[in-house]
Amino acid sequence: MAVRSAIIHVMAGAALKAARGLIRDFGEVEQLQVSVKGPSDFVSAADLKAERLIRAELQRARPGYGFLMEEGGETPGSDARHRWIVDPLDGTTNFLHGLPFFAISIALERDGEMVAAVIYEPIRDEMFWAEKGAGAYVNDKRLRVSARKRLSDAVIGTGMPFREHGDHAAYLRTLTPIMAGTAGVRRMGVASLDLAYVAAGRLDGFWEFGLKPWDIAAGLLMVREAGGYATDFQGAHGLPASGDVLAANDHLHPVLLGMLRESRRSAAELPAK
Ligand code: IPD
Ligand code: CA
Ligand code: CA
Repeated sequence: MAVRSAIIHVMAGAALKAARGLIRDFGEVEQLQVSVKGPSDFVSAADLKAERLIRAELQRARPGYGFLMEEGGETPGSDARHRWIVDPLDGTTNFLHGLPFFAISIALERDGEMVAAVIYEPIRDEMFWAEKGAGAYVNDKRLRVSARKRLSDAVIGTGMPFREHGDHAAYLRTLTPIMAGTAGVRRMGVASLDLAYVAAGRLDGFWEFGLKPWDIAAGLLMVREAGGYATDFQGAHGLPASGDVLAANDHLHPVLLGMLRESRRSAAELPAK
């Protein structure tokens, strides 16, 4: 039986409280799909409401800790060692379109290192959590990354750039060999859950460029505590400044890293336009 520490209780409690509002709002959003104006203002309000609620809960439990939140940005605390990193609604595009796949992501950083993480998926009521040195869990079940060794059997998650975001051509250079070499690629639209699913062995790997700290802080700890590797495309650990992330088990991580690096190398060889 997994024993949740006091800090995990605080984080999970904040996520559950915010999730209640999000589930209610998600029901409304499903109705609003057919309205001319669409649900986007409503969703922004739901997002802000969840963030305010999470901030209040965390602040009440640990008054001195600082915050890095998607909507509210950085707020330093009186305790310079600790910082919460929060995405109150990861998967906004899914939420906005009535797609039932979104999450709340909360990480606790101590002295620049992630020490506790919660990713909550309200629709399936799955509470993913991890603590440094104590393992990763979903509800009360211990998580392990998948044991698949062959790339041809692997299902890999990814995040694609959209509209004006990101370098679309560079992304496609990474996608082409991974599409050809694996059993399938999935784009689920919730980076925190992609990482939780790698930790749970549901996905064999995941890569995306240019993510933000609140998308990945909790998920990186989750993957590591489930026995996996999570790095940037240079293979460096920690919270990557670039936001480029590759996560997988120890067999597939080096193989995928080689493919990502090769895509960069071949791009460098392309003649300049
Ligand atoms: C997004 C999701 C998505 C990823 C995007 C993120 P948001 O976060 O995690 O999967 O591809 O890069 O911005 O905007 O839904 O919180
Ligand atoms: Ca968000
Ligand atoms: Ca996000």
